[in-house]
Amino acid sequence: MQQKLQLFCIPFKKEYSHLLLFLSLILITYVCYSILSPLNQRSAIGIGFLSQLILPKTTSNSTLKSYCDYSYGKWVWDETRPIRKYTENCPFLDPGFRCQQSGRQELDYQKWRWQPQRCNLPRFDAAEFLRRIQNGRIVFAGDSIGRNQWESLICMLMQGVSNQSTVYEEHGNPITKHNGYLSIRFHEYNLTVEYYRVPYLVMTDRLPPHAPPQVRGVVRVDTLHWYSEKWIGADVLIFSAGHWWNKDKTTKMGYYFQEGGNVNMTMDVMEAFRRSLNTLKSWVMQNLEPGKSHVFFRSYSPAHYRQVNI
Ligand SMILES: *[C@@H]1O[C@H](CO)[C@@H](O)[C@H](O)[C@H]1NC(C)=O
Ligand SMILES: *[C@@H]1O[C@H](CO)[C@@H](O)[C@H](O)[C@H]1NC(C)=O
Ligand SMILES: *[C@@H]1O[C@H](CO)[C@@H](O)[C@H](O)[C@H]1NC(C)=O
Ligand SMILES: *[C@@H]1O[C@H](CO)[C@@H](O)[C@H](O)[C@H]1NC(C)=O
Repeated sequence: MQQKLQLFCIPFKKEYSHLLLFLSLILITYVCYSILSPLNQRSAIGIGFLSQLILPKTTSNSTLKSYCDYSYGKWVWDETRPIRKYTENCPFLDPGFRCQQSGRQELDYQKWRWQPQRCNLPRFDAAEFLRRIQNGRIVFAGDSIGRNQWESLICMLMQGVSNQSTVYEEHGNPITKHNGYLSIRFHEYNLTVEYYRVPYLVMTDRLPPHAPPQVRGVVRVDTLHWYSEKWIGADVLIFSAGHWWNKDKTTKMGYYFQEGGNVNMTMDVMEAFRRSLNTLKSWVMQNLEPGKSHVFFRSYSPAHYRQVNI
C-alpha cells in the first residue's frame, strides 16, 4: 500500500524557489518543435519561440544573429539580486513550496542568476509575456517537477496582472489537489496555463490478464496518456519526464512495460523510456500544427529533495 501510494503521489519537500525552477525550465528544455518538420535553423538552436515570447521588441538584429542558445551557460552569483523582493504570497503557490514560510533560513539562493554563454537573458517581463501570449494556451504535462515549473510560471505571470481575482482555476479546484489536471485562467488575457499529471507521459494500467505473478501494473510504452486529447491546439507544450524512469519506480515496484498487448518482462527501463518518447514524438507529428504549437521537453533536472539521488 505504501509503495502504491508513492507511485501516485510524490511527497513534496522542495528546496527550490519558484523563480529558480522556472529558469531551470528554460535551461533544461532541449527539444523544440523543430524536431518535426524540416529544421528551421533558428528554432533548432533554441531561440525560436523563446525569442518571440521573451525578447524585447527592441532587440537588435545583431542579437538575433548571434543565435544564442539559452540552455548553454552557467549559474553566476549576483550580489544585485534579488531585483525585486521575493514574496510567497502568490495564491497559486502550494503551501509545500513556500520555502520561507516553511522555515528556510538562508536566503542566498535568490542571488543566483543564469548566464547564457553567448548572450544575455532578457529580464522576465510578465506584462509583456502576457500581451504576447494572449488568447493562448500553455500546457505542462508530466511529473511533479513540471508541476513546480507550472506554478512558477503562473506566479511570475501574476506580477503582470493588476486584479488578482481575474486569475482563477477554471473548475474551482484547489491548487493542492495533486492528481488529474488543473487549468489556471488569466481572464483578462484569455490565457490558460494548464497542468496535467502524467509522470510517465504514457499510460499506466492495471494488471493485464495472464500476467506473471510479479507484475502489479504496467506502463504502456506505445500508448500516450489519454489526457493527450486535451493538449491538441495548445500554443506551447512543455513535457516533463525522466525522474520516474528508473527501476525503483517501475520494475522494482512490480510495474513492467507493455507493448502491444504483451507485458515484456525483460525490457530495460531506458529502452522503455526511449520507446515512450517515440510514442510522444509520433503523437506530436500527427496532432500538432507546425508553426502554431511549440513543444519543449524537459528530462532530468534537480529533484525536489536534498541528498536523495533520484
Ligand atoms: C533587421 O533585419 C531585417 C531583415 O534582415 C531588416 O528588414 C530590418 O530593417 C533590420 N532591422 C534593423 C533594426 O536593423
Ligand atoms: C480565447 O482564446 C481561444 C484560444 O485559446 C480562442 O479560440 C477564443 O476565440 C478566444 N476568445 C476571445 C474572446 O478572444
Ligand atoms: C477584480 O475582478 C473581480 C472579478 O472579475 C471583480 O469582481 C472586481 O470588481 C475587480 N476589482 C477591481 C478593483 O477592479
Ligand atoms: C522485449 O523488449 C526487448 C527490447 O528491450 C526486445 O528485444 C524483446 O524482443 C522484447 N521481448 C518480447 C517478448 O517482445
